[in-house]
Amino acid sequence: MTILTIANQKGGVGKTTTAVTIAHGLAVAGRRTLLVDLDPQGHVAFSLGLPKGPGFYRLIVDEEPIEKVAIHARGNLEIVPGDKRTEKAKRTIVISNFPTETISRALKHARYDVVILDLAPSLDVLHVSALMASDWVLIPTKLDAMAVDGVNEVLRSMAEVAERGHRLGYSILPTFFDRTTRETVVQLQSLVETFRDHVWPPIPQDTKAREAPAYGKSLWEYCPNSPVISGFGEERTGGYGSTMSRLLEVLRG
Ligand SMILES: Nc1ncnc2c1ncn2[C@@H]1O[C@H](COP(=O)(O)OP(=O)(O)OP(=O)(O)O)[C@@H](O)[C@H]1O
Ligand SMILES: [Mg+2]
Repeated sequence: MTILTIANQKGGVGKTTTAVTIAHGLAVAGRRTLLVDLDPQGHVAFSLGLPKGPGFYRLIVDEEPIEKVAIHARGNLEIVPGDKRTEKAKRTIVISNFPTETISRALKHARYDVVILDLAPSLDVLHVSALMASDWVLIPTKLDAMAVDGVNEVLRSMAEVAERGHRLGYSILPTFFDRTTRETVVQLQSLVETFRDHVWPPIPQDTKAREAPAYGKSLWEYCPNSPVISGFGEERTGGYGSTMSRLLEVLRG
């Protein structure tokens, strides 16, 4: 079982969109997938047309087994929904004996090919606990002047986790790419100069991506042929289609 965290403490950079899109993509590719919402906003369930709920709270505070709190979302895809009670669960974790081990313990008996953890935009106990449980971190980032700073914050947390003896791989996923805006093109170049092969092909900014959650549909269901999936330009660069190819390579190890 591979565990993957989607992290960036900056808000609105496309974490949840990425988490939902790759989770459904993996499910369609035949991987038994679990998507866990670690954000009290509860947007994971909402984006898939399902009700928010205290799934994570029940998992952590009531110590219910994963098979009781996970709900069916699509073929091969189950989710542990979140809602504002996730905030309460966090307080329980902080005062527990092994706060940073909470998530790996909760997932110990999970039986999936892949588990994806969608984090809130904050650097809290869930952030560290998710990294401790994970094999790989995917860092979505917008392409503005603050972008590299957000990425560096996640890398710093990864270094802290490495000091506790847990090393993990990572990739950076540039989001909201607009090739007509000089700023995003320049920022993408500088990101690639700094982080080289860790930078995956960018996700184009696309109105369809913004619309999909309101219909409770994943991007594969709502707009499979638009640039956010299939990439931009004649070469069809980037998009979540190419994210999936990279991800499947990572999973093959
Ligand atoms: N490629 C894209 N093009 C246009 N809009 C997008 C794109 N990706 C995401 N969005 C929209 O941008 C908003 C923020 O995206 P999302 O919720 O995925 O970010 P987030 O990092 O999870 O936010 P938060 O930090 O609040 O959890 C949403 O309305 C989403 O639909
Ligand atoms: Mg989110």
